[in-house]
Amino acid sequence: MAGEPVSALTIDLQPLEPPFAAKLSGPDLSRPLDGATLDAIREAWRRHPVVVIPGQELSPEQQLAYSRNFGTLRGHTVTSLLHPQYPELLVLSNRGRGGTAPINNGGAYWHSDITYEWEPPMGSILHGVIVPPGGGDTLYADMCAAYEALDGETKAALEGVTAIHTYRFRYLAMVAEGVRPARTEEQMAEWIEVEHPVVRTIAETGQRALYVNEGFTARIAGWPEDESRDMLDKLLAHTVEARFVYRHRWQPGDVVMWDNRRTLHRATEYDLTQERTMHRTTISGVRPV
Ligand code: SIN
Repeated sequence: MAGEPVSALTIDLQPLEPPFAAKLSGPDLSRPLDGATLDAIREAWRRHPVVVIPGQELSPEQQLAYSRNFGTLRGHTVTSLLHPQYPELLVLSNRGRGGTAPINNGGAYWHSDITYEWEPPMGSILHGVIVPPGGGDTLYADMCAAYEALDGETKAALEGVTAIHTYRFRYLAMVAEGVRPARTEEQMAEWIEVEHPVVRTIAETGQRALYVNEGFTARIAGWPEDESRDMLDKLLAHTVEARFVYRHRWQPGDVVMWDNRRTLHRATEYDLTQERTMHRTTISGVRPV
């Protein structure tokens, strides 16, 4: 019966490959979930920074209600992608569903969401509403495993080091790719620079995670430009080695929850004559330490 809480006893959790990702089956996320089920999902997410929950038919309201179980929701810098009726719902659709701007191959670069703010989101929840028959997979990289695998000398070199993140860096890359018009310095002034540790510590688990990304990390603070670029290039190439990466091949109705503190992600290309419509909710976070 709609509205009846679901029991945690129905949950099954299977690690994927690599096992920082896991598949959780059982709950129907369109319905209110009881405390034990929510605790089980929270625990699964604590243990696995990427949790896949297949087979969900969710309206925007139902996705918002489910997502609020994990924290306060927030919007996005690119306001043209926010659903006009539900401003906490980001619509990533090449058909511009729900009155939002169409977006082709959005997020097709390695990033963690919105690290160009002082308090970047803790997590994101993506629902595959309409997925193409092939392509359009999402890749996830395990930033804790990537940190652990660094050699001792690199770990020591990164201790106490911070990096500058800014949306301006991403925008200039898009201008260089020819997908955005150039802007004046004055028009870009709204995109501030923020500083985050290159290695952050996750409060609930004590894990350490690399916290730099291709999308928004402009440079290492206080380092000469060439040394900063060399280190960032080395770290970024390392983090996306196949051993750290889970590839999610979407089926309609899949929900993927990821922890932005412990992972990077990127969309991959697909045949743009096919529709791809995804709904994302974004959970607020705290300043990285
Ligand atoms: C995102 O970067 O949040 C979206 C990823 C995707 O559409 O696969």
